[in-house]
Amino acid sequence: MSRKLICRTAEIPANGLKECEAGGGMKLLIANSGGEYFAVQAICPHQDVPLCEGLYDGSVLTCHQHLWQWDIRTGAPMGLAEAPLERYDVTVEGDAIYVGSQGALNVGELFTGIAETTLTALTALAKREEFAAGSVLYRPGDPADDFFVLDSGRVEFQIGRDERTSPAGFMLKKGEVFGWAALLENHPHRIATARALENSALLRINGRQALNLLESDPASGFAVMRRLAALIARFLAAPGAK
Ligand code: FES
Repeated sequence: MSRKLICRTAEIPANGLKECEAGGGMKLLIANSGGEYFAVQAICPHQDVPLCEGLYDGSVLTCHQHLWQWDIRTGAPMGLAEAPLERYDVTVEGDAIYVGSQGALNVGELFTGIAETTLTALTALAKREEFAAGSVLYRPGDPADDFFVLDSGRVEFQIGRDERTSPAGFMLKKGEVFGWAALLENHPHRIATARALENSALLRINGRQALNLLESDPASGFAVMRRLAALIARFLAAPGAK
């Protein structure tokens, strides 16, 4: 997410919060915690409930729907919560609050810790694309040439076709990889529907080109394949995959 002026400090009450427009239809929650500012996703990671309607005591945010809670400074889940909040970089200049950064593209958790040269080459392969809320990214039977990294927004998955579809049981958060069939041998087609739940930005990377890069750096390739195996195991454990 590129750096953006999101609001002024005077708009956020002391130890309070406010939902702010981050551009392209994306919303973020800006919170004041003891005079410091934090930005997190505006919608509960459990269900489609605005977190600005929850309870906030200046440090702990509670969703009013099923009482999931988070530490606003870290986004870490507390109590009943089963997922963290996505956090965004915040800088304050004068009375202006900015979110996002102008750093290099983050090509996702699958590739953290790999050799710098390989990561740079991989980043060069990534093409940034934006999808409006409701857009279908791919459907069953589409060629699985590319995989994706979610940069902002939310994506959900449906298994099956036509009326006989069912949720795959998970949504993604920033930095997560999907469409990873493009990194497997003999999986040329999609088996699920991927749809943007809100305006979303993705990095698209060609699977064959990425594999060529990883084959030329076996240590990085081994690290990526181990993480990919864990990711597939998580997919198989999701309710809709059974
Ligand atoms: S919708 Fe927020 S905790 Fe369930």
